[in-house]
Amino acid sequence: MDIVNTHQAHAWNGYEGRHWADRHDRYDAMVGGLNGPLFEGAVIERAHRVLDIGCGAGATTRIAARSAPDGHAFGVDLSEPMLERARRTAEAEGLGNVTFEQGDAQVHPFPEAHFDVAVSRGGIMYFADPVAAFGNIGRALKPGGRLAFVCGRDSGEDEAARLWQAMARHVPLPDPAEDDAPGPVNFTNRDHIVEVLTKAGFTQVTATPFETVSVFGRDAEDAAEFVFGWGPVRHWLRDSDPAAVARAREAVVAALRPFEIDGAVRLTGPVWRFTARVG
Ligand SMILES: C[S@@+](CC[C@H](N)C(=O)[O-])C[C@H]1O[C@@H](n2cnc3c(N)ncnc32)[C@H](O)[C@@H]1O
Repeated sequence: MDIVNTHQAHAWNGYEGRHWADRHDRYDAMVGGLNGPLFEGAVIERAHRVLDIGCGAGATTRIAARSAPDGHAFGVDLSEPMLERARRTAEAEGLGNVTFEQGDAQVHPFPEAHFDVAVSRGGIMYFADPVAAFGNIGRALKPGGRLAFVCGRDSGEDEAARLWQAMARHVPLPDPAEDDAPGPVNFTNRDHIVEVLTKAGFTQVTATPFETVSVFGRDAEDAAEFVFGWGPVRHWLRDSDPAAVARAREAVVAALRPFEIDGAVRLTGPVWRFTARVG
């Protein structure tokens, strides 16, 4: 198997991937608001072959498979723990037109000009070489094939920012402005993404801004526990004084308290839906 995004492969096959795979229902509830805009942009037809990039535990691959009952959905991801979860759920739901494969979408040897549509719910922000990766995805699409994905948007008006600000008052966090590693924080700028897609050979690029509501937990304590369990947060805090981490957690609980409504902590965040065509 060809893997060039080795750092990501390590993270998604380690703690981060297991955290997601073990709590896939919870992550799906958190990002489920993205499904509507994503699939409106994908326009999947009954007989389409659909590629789901960075499919994770397969929630969107299963939606694609149901949208293409006479076609097929193929999910590719770096993370074996998440793919194992994806296969088990698809089997339990009796979906016969879906397959999952471990691979790095940047270099995976997809069959050429094979898919009608490629989709991704937040699985395309981690490429070390985004132009090469989208070029590889473009070659897997038929001429005229469609790409649709959702990712974060750099609007500066993010309710979740309050959570990070509360945490940062007690423990050192990396400065997003100085962090140029591939990841969700650095794939949010419209012009940058348009440039990447255009260089990779895509045309008719559209960028649609929208707001999504994410459910972080039942209440502020539950949401804080979830956030402090995230792989990146654990990594940032690994050398911090436990007393400071405890104070940071209290501050995060207090910051999340105003967002507890009707048994859930809901935070609104800015998102992009991109669509593009090949050829
Ligand atoms: C934020 S998760 C989203 C998972 C899934 N799309 C969902 O919405 O539930 C990002 C996913 O992208 C995958 N990923 C990151 N880089 C990748 C790459 N180069 N090739 C394939 N998958 C990748 C990760 O393993 C992870 O499952």
